[in-house]
Amino acid sequence: MRNNLKIKMITMLFLALFAMQGTGFAQLKAETSEQKAKRMSWWTEARFGMFIHWGLYALPARHEWVKNNERLTNEQYQKYFDNFNPDLYNPKEWARMAKEAGMKYVVLTAKHHEGFCLFDSKFTDYKATNTPFGKDIIREYVDALRAEGLKVGFYYSLIDWHHPDYTIDSNHPQRQTTDSAYVRLNKGRDMAKYREYLKNQVRELLTNYGEISVIWFDFSFPGKNGKGRDDWGSIDLLKMVRTLQPGIIIDDRLDLKDVDGGWDFESPEQYKVEKWPERNGQKVNWETCQTFSGSWGYYRDENTWKSTPQLLELLIESVSKGGNLLLNVGPTARGVFDYRAQDRLKSMGEWMKYNNRSIYGCTEAPAEFVAPDNTLLTYNAKTNRLYIHLLSYPMGNLKLKNMGDKVKYIQFLHDASEIKYRAGRDEEKNNLNLSLPVQKPPVEIPVLEVILK
Ligand code: GLC
Repeated sequence: MRNNLKIKMITMLFLALFAMQGTGFAQLKAETSEQKAKRMSWWTEARFGMFIHWGLYALPARHEWVKNNERLTNEQYQKYFDNFNPDLYNPKEWARMAKEAGMKYVVLTAKHHEGFCLFDSKFTDYKATNTPFGKDIIREYVDALRAEGLKVGFYYSLIDWHHPDYTIDSNHPQRQTTDSAYVRLNKGRDMAKYREYLKNQVRELLTNYGEISVIWFDFSFPGKNGKGRDDWGSIDLLKMVRTLQPGIIIDDRLDLKDVDGGWDFESPEQYKVEKWPERNGQKVNWETCQTFSGSWGYYRDENTWKSTPQLLELLIESVSKGGNLLLNVGPTARGVFDYRAQDRLKSMGEWMKYNNRSIYGCTEAPAEFVAPDNTLLTYNAKTNRLYIHLLSYPMGNLKLKNMGDKVKYIQFLHDASEIKYRAGRDEEKNNLNLSLPVQKPPVEIPVLEVILK
């Protein structure tokens, strides 16, 4: 009897421990989903942000992975450091352009995979302040964003192709083909030291520049000759981040997808999601990051630039599935935005100026609303308004199915001009037939604003 009880108790203890492992054992932050939604509310309202990839790779101007793609050594790459002098760098201009495009936050690469730091770190010499340019780029960037009321974000590369203790792996410019070659090359390299370096730098970034709203770690590739949570010390790192900046929002690339509080949003890169992404049956926060062309860093000879209508559709579609868009600019080595990016930003801003009500604070429309062909719906729950984006402009009329009992008033969003409509007959009774002008209004993607009952 006594033994039985003992066995029972031990089993229960094990079961409890097991359950904790699966749920919150490795928990980083005790937070209810309401608290999390509140912490992230500025971000889910904002919907549109700017990514900026800038570093030494702006000089070769042929992809931010150039060091890797061409398998360059530190010595071969040194000329870009020696010639780094972006004399036209003016982050006030950057901030103005982001704001005018309708973006609400900006995330800049404080360090990309090449290891070069845009900030004045105490832990390395490989930084902007030691180049001919000689200034802390991050300091000026942070000040400029704040002056425009934009939220400040940092991207920080976990990967580092310059640090002497970072072990050579399958993503490294000096990658190898045999195990013995890896062993030989990695002799003397000590990831524990690199881990400390990484942590020290993140501490600097989150201590020396005031309130930071987003941190974007990039990226994990666990497995043979790869790197994951233990290499970065992800749990420890994240605990520090949350302590230093309790309100900060963190991406999902620390290899902590299975840990409670290990990430705040999913980051689908360069593709459109099919539907609002879910985890364990729950819809999650997400942000797609996308380039204007095929590269994140400035790429002079790359010509696959997306058009303004494509980019607007990308933004609208993201919101229509409950997500954000982080659109990337790769400034040149003079420090200015690529003229093609400037052009796109300007035309997106033109559209946003009149139509941002269908973006800010909006999300996926409730399932009861059926999107007419060639349209995308977004919805603002606070104002109870539905937005119908006309991707391909219809000729004169548009039918809204099953909405007769739901609609109070309809107008074009860009000029607040009334859209007249009438109900259908018989079994079409609850459908609405809208009369639109035959000519498409002078708006890239016209939007109907439906004021609901
Ligand atoms: C990738 C690339 C990188 C880019 C990032 C943006 O992981 O390595 O160059 O910074 O995606 O999401």
